[in-house]
Amino acid sequence: MLIKRAFSGDPKPSEITDAKSYAARRCFLKFSCATAMGAALMLPTESPWAEENGLAADFNNLKASPFSTTEEKTSFRDATRYNNFYEFGTAKGDPERNAHTLRVRPWTVAVEGEAGKPRIFDIDELLKISPLEERIYRLRCVEAWSMVIPWVGFPLAELLKRVEPTGNAKFVEFTTLHDPEQMPGQRSTMLDWPYVEGLRLDEARHPLTILAVGLYGNVLPKQNGAPIRLIVPWKYGFKSIKSIVRIRLTEEPPLTTWMKAAPREYGFYANVNPEVDHPRWSQAKERRIGDFLKRPTLMFNGYGEQVAHLYSGMDLQKYF
Ligand code: MTE
Repeated sequence: MLIKRAFSGDPKPSEITDAKSYAARRCFLKFSCATAMGAALMLPTESPWAEENGLAADFNNLKASPFSTTEEKTSFRDATRYNNFYEFGTAKGDPERNAHTLRVRPWTVAVEGEAGKPRIFDIDELLKISPLEERIYRLRCVEAWSMVIPWVGFPLAELLKRVEPTGNAKFVEFTTLHDPEQMPGQRSTMLDWPYVEGLRLDEARHPLTILAVGLYGNVLPKQNGAPIRLIVPWKYGFKSIKSIVRIRLTEEPPLTTWMKAAPREYGFYANVNPEVDHPRWSQAKERRIGDFLKRPTLMFNGYGEQVAHLYSGMDLQKYF
């Protein structure tokens, strides 16, 4: 995610793949660098963060999802070391370095607002919601890079069903934990904390929309939004809010963090759209992390067949 104060102009390749991770990747690919290989092969049976979190080391017998892409996956290393999680710093390596201060147990998620049966769910109860599946999704960041990640998650619709949304519920607001002691980035005034995101109720109930609790067959590393985060694969990555503590059904559209910070740059819908540029850079192409060359960005991040109907008749230049 980029904010105006950070810099102006297009995202540069050097900001997308720094020299160090490029070199590391070449080491892995070309010389089968023993330690990197070892780390990759150990997954998912040995997982320090799973142990740290007091969880079983892996999710067993995950069903593959028909929504999964067959594209080549981003390496585990890149997926867990090149992150956006401003609560732990603004550089891509900061979350991996700093997120150890996050405590993911005990953890609850309040599901409230326009609901007949509002409730507070314990995270371990949420881990049992089915179908819990592996979903290999593309995630396209607004900064023009993308990854392909095997998430472990369940449909958000399954959780919403349990609280019985009322007839007034039209939108869903999501909120990240607010605790500057655990999340040192929240001591800065860079954003209006806590991080808030929102979806229309039909987007939230769409079968592609999941709450992720893991990746690569294991529980979510803290830098990836442990213990539970949203994944909406046809929208820019900033919609996929991490470390959620509250989900609220509302009648009015929620005011999201990035709309508050820069309303001209970040709209409510944030659908991936190569034809609508960010005011400061083109969205026509993207760099898949791990690739050298850019590739064209696809409308709705390639999920148009499943989601385009949600926006029929809408001017997507206006509702960006
Ligand atoms: N959620 C919170 N709470 N804080 C953040 O800074 N960054 C967003 C999104 N969710 C962010 C967040 C952005 S800009 C992106 S691209 C994705 O997380 C990145 O997810 P990843 O780092 O796990 O790939």
